[in-house]
Amino acid sequence: MNVLTIETTCDETAAAVVTDRLEVLSSVVASQDALHKRFGGVVPEIASRAHVERILPVIDETLRKANLSLADLDAVAIAHTPGLAGSLLVGLSTAKALCVARGLPLIAVNHLQAHIYACRLASGRNVFPCVGLVVSGGHSNLYRCETATDFTPLGGTIDDAAGEAFDKVASLLGLPYPGGPSIEKAARRGDAKKYRLPRPLLDDPSRLEFSFSGLKTAVRYLLERSHGSGVRGQGKELADDHVGDVAASFQEAVVDCLVGKADLAIARTGYLTLCVGGGVAANSRFRARLEESAAANGYELHVPPLSLCTDNAVMGAIAIERLRAGKFAELTLDVLPGPERAVANAN
Ligand code: KG4
Ligand code: ZN
Repeated sequence: MNVLTIETTCDETAAAVVTDRLEVLSSVVASQDALHKRFGGVVPEIASRAHVERILPVIDETLRKANLSLADLDAVAIAHTPGLAGSLLVGLSTAKALCVARGLPLIAVNHLQAHIYACRLASGRNVFPCVGLVVSGGHSNLYRCETATDFTPLGGTIDDAAGEAFDKVASLLGLPYPGGPSIEKAARRGDAKKYRLPRPLLDDPSRLEFSFSGLKTAVRYLLERSHGSGVRGQGKELADDHVGDVAASFQEAVVDCLVGKADLAIARTGYLTLCVGGGVAANSRFRARLEESAAANGYELHVPPLSLCTDNAVMGAIAIERLRAGKFAELTLDVLPGPERAVANAN
């Protein structure tokens, strides 16, 4: 069976064709980074308009690359939550139209669960049960993932998401959007021990939560103390080695929090596998620290290759699990705009 998966939750227009044997026949991702760059973040109205322009060409190209036509499809899967309302609506309307036109079943995908499922795809074997950690632009959520269709929130951020903190601190440092890759690059020439920044909630073993907004503010104060203004262009230009040291110190603080709480979730659940997904999982320092921790604490770690960390439609293959379980969606399916906050104390 061939399933067309569609992803338009934020600022990537993506489609893929996957089979019920989890083979990926094709995948296309149209990034909108260039459109949002000058605003330093995703502008929802621009994102949804760009999805409207791109969605049909992206689906066409996906089918062409797979050597298939619409007649060869057996189902359509759509990421309908969480995300930007306008963006989600473009993908959902397109998916529904295809289902009505071709008489195909519709499958609902949760974008965050799909990020975790990228680990299943990349490893080529079962990864469940596991602890799932999704670290993206809008989310830093921990889940107990009993099976591929049974996720329970364990905890998440109480304010900013990790990726959001990377993006905001990059902007304070005058580094280009998206901030994560810019900070990672700048951090390579910096000293992570130069500034001791806060690790909010890290020392509290009773809380499986993150908080990154205070860390971002601490960076702002640090820059103001050293330059009179935290914003490049408004104050004195920041010296490159100073930018590197701040970027490295900030990155280390975020990574400490993420790895520390992932370890805590593993200890609490007793699970032996950690699956990490989302754009921030592309960060090489984070990946290295996760590997160290997995080795030290004796759990199995899965982090997908970079192309499956940032938004894509291949991870929508989680729809195959729903297909196998007969879990189809009605054509009345609605979007559930995000963010999806993992309820505190659900653990
Ligand atoms: O999962 P994703 O592509 O989209 C959302 O669902 O949000 O994640 C995007 C986020 C952005 O905040 C971006 O700055 C961050 O992931 N990111 C990174 C890196 N690459 C992307 N953060 C840290 N290091 C990276 N290398
Ligand atoms: Zn995402």
